[in-house]
Amino acid sequence: MRRYVKPLSLTFRQLEKEHALAILNWRYTSPYDYYNFDADTVQEDLRYLLDVKNAFCAILNLQGELEGYCSFGSDAQVPGGDYSAEALDIGMGIRPDLVGQGRGKQYAQAVARYGVKQYRAQQLRVTIAEFNKRAQRVWEQLGFEQVEKFIKIGSGEKFVVMACASVDSWFYIYCCND
Ligand SMILES: CC(C)(COP(=O)(O)OP(=O)(O)OC[C@H]1O[C@@H](n2cnc3c(N)ncnc32)[C@H](O)[C@@H]1OP(=O)(O)O)[C@@H](O)C(=O)NCCC(=O)NCCS
Repeated sequence: MRRYVKPLSLTFRQLEKEHALAILNWRYTSPYDYYNFDADTVQEDLRYLLDVKNAFCAILNLQGELEGYCSFGSDAQVPGGDYSAEALDIGMGIRPDLVGQGRGKQYAQAVARYGVKQYRAQQLRVTIAEFNKRAQRVWEQLGFEQVEKFIKIGSGEKFVVMACASVDSWFYIYCCND
């Protein structure tokens, strides 16, 4: 039986220092601890998260509480991937206590919709660690398909790139009827 998932009301804001400090302390459980920030590089990571070039946004609920973050552009690319095609790269992370509860599609949809509007993107793309089938499933649910598999330069980790064919039809299917 499908579980009932309450619709989300989310807003997006440029990431501020208080958000960044909270995110640096988030701890995902294994195997997703891969996404934890390193306690030894807090100052460096803080600068990175707050650097406007990296386009990090806070995902807030109606009470203004931080539920996640997303990034657009080069932060969401991984060395070794083929990014020659024009597309908006999307990265995201949801607060550890909110993951795994069936809301991934709604968060990802909201992030993609925000990205399309903000950046007038014609194509969308995500790069995901190959082991992370949960994240891949979320984007697959939103009509994204795998277009590349590659090994990250310098680490040997495997990644997949997923993209949606056309933002116009994607927007029509996934954003007009909700
Ligand atoms: C990626 C992320 C947004 C997904 O959101 P979520 O709320 O955890 O995902 P959900 O609970 O909605 O699960 C998504 C789907 O994956 C499935 N899933 C869960 N674990 C899985 C696994 N190990 N293998 C395959 N599918 C899995 C779920 O059953 C669900 O599919 P369904 O709707 O068909 O049942 C969230 O986990 C997150 O922010 N993770 C940390 C950062 C990260 O992973 N970033 C990746 C870059 S996008």
